[in-house]
Amino acid sequence: MSAASLPAVLGGTPVVTAPDAPDWPPVGPIESAVLAEITEQERWFGFSHKPAKWRAILEQVVADTTGYRYGVGQPNGTLAIGSGLRAQVLARGAAWAEGRDEVLVADLTHASAHHGVLVGLAPQLGRVPRLVPIDAKLDATMDEAVVADYLSRHADRVLGVVPATMYGNFGAIERIAELAARHDVASHHDNALGGAARYDGGKAVTASISGQGEGKATPAGEAGLTLSSDPDVAWWIRADTDTGHGAGRLDPIPYAEHPPLAAGNQRLGEHPAALMLVQWLRALHARLQMRESRRLVQELLADPALFPAPVLWNPPVDAEYPPFFALYMSCTDALEAELGLSPEDLRVALWAEGVYAEPGFTPTHQDPAWQHVTEGLDLSYAGSARVFDRAVFIHAQWLRDARFPGWLRDILARVVAHKDALRGISATVSRPPHG
Ligand SMILES: Cc1ncc(COP(=O)(O)O)c(C=O)c1O
Repeated sequence: MSAASLPAVLGGTPVVTAPDAPDWPPVGPIESAVLAEITEQERWFGFSHKPAKWRAILEQVVADTTGYRYGVGQPNGTLAIGSGLRAQVLARGAAWAEGRDEVLVADLTHASAHHGVLVGLAPQLGRVPRLVPIDAKLDATMDEAVVADYLSRHADRVLGVVPATMYGNFGAIERIAELAARHDVASHHDNALGGAARYDGGKAVTASISGQGEGKATPAGEAGLTLSSDPDVAWWIRADTDTGHGAGRLDPIPYAEHPPLAAGNQRLGEHPAALMLVQWLRALHARLQMRESRRLVQELLADPALFPAPVLWNPPVDAEYPPFFALYMSCTDALEAELGLSPEDLRVALWAEGVYAEPGFTPTHQDPAWQHVTEGLDLSYAGSARVFDRAVFIHAQWLRDARFPGWLRDILARVVAHKDALRGISATVSRPPHG
């Protein structure tokens, strides 16, 4: 396709037509076979004295892939966050929790994460904790300098810190986990977006992953896991997930005697466990293509033949196998200065070419449902506001497709060639709200 072809939003043929768009979710006959086997064998669930087979396989594979020792299946990533924090509070005991009411969370995150923190801790504490959203850096992850400053002033009122994998980056998990340990507070890594990615640095005491179907790397409908390398904490997670019953002798988590626990049912069923397992195996392949696509996209964004000054930025990769929930690019000031386009002009142009682009998650401080939690805090949210304002966020399915970097090059070449006609296009053409 010639660089001078008319952009689709101005009447040209889209670079990606519907039949070429990558499929989502990426399925094959293995999913049908495993679901049929479970259905026909009538072992649809497991619990303490009826060990779950597929869930136990998933738990071991996910733990091994992500560098944790143990995993516990959960119904989703939201409850998995609550489960990790609750287990740490249980392991630390009631005396430690006294007088502590705050949980540091990411300002830039999916708001269901906040719900996970609240519903996870409230029954355990007998009170609702206060969320303290922490600003984001340009890579979209929690700013560890703000965490360090906050803990140095108020660690005695903090229960825990919950940094989150955001889009394609882990961020400063190791540093934040170290700060939490030094200040004697709990640490949970909300790794909902990190399925099949691997963080090699020092880890939070617990972590959670989502298998939700819309865009996660390992879509399973609804599913999740909580992870920990501490056998005691893992035992509490299992017991808390499984109506107070801890690991039996056939559980991947070591058997141990513990006092009884008041707990509910938060178990993962066999069907979603098997689906997430097969998707996890597919993702071990997809992550190779994703890593290469991201390298090619980074090369493209820095190509002086396309842009004399880069108008888009993709954060440096911070892991050997980085998360691939989405491709996140941030518009630099050169987008306006060199091309005269706004971030929304660019998103509209991409959408019309067949590649849906959006600004990503609404930061907590701007979210009408959640912004009240930031009231009265003397914290700045300039970082997450900028990420949201200037983000071009593209669904994971595109990074998994080897054709995507070429398509992106064609689209950006059209944008550059027709920048004058595209200027202000978002004032007259709107993207639909969802892709
Ligand atoms: C950062 C983050 N944390 C937690 C969650 C919750 O995961 P789930 O949808 O599986 O409950 C999400 C969901 O999108 C998320 O994006």
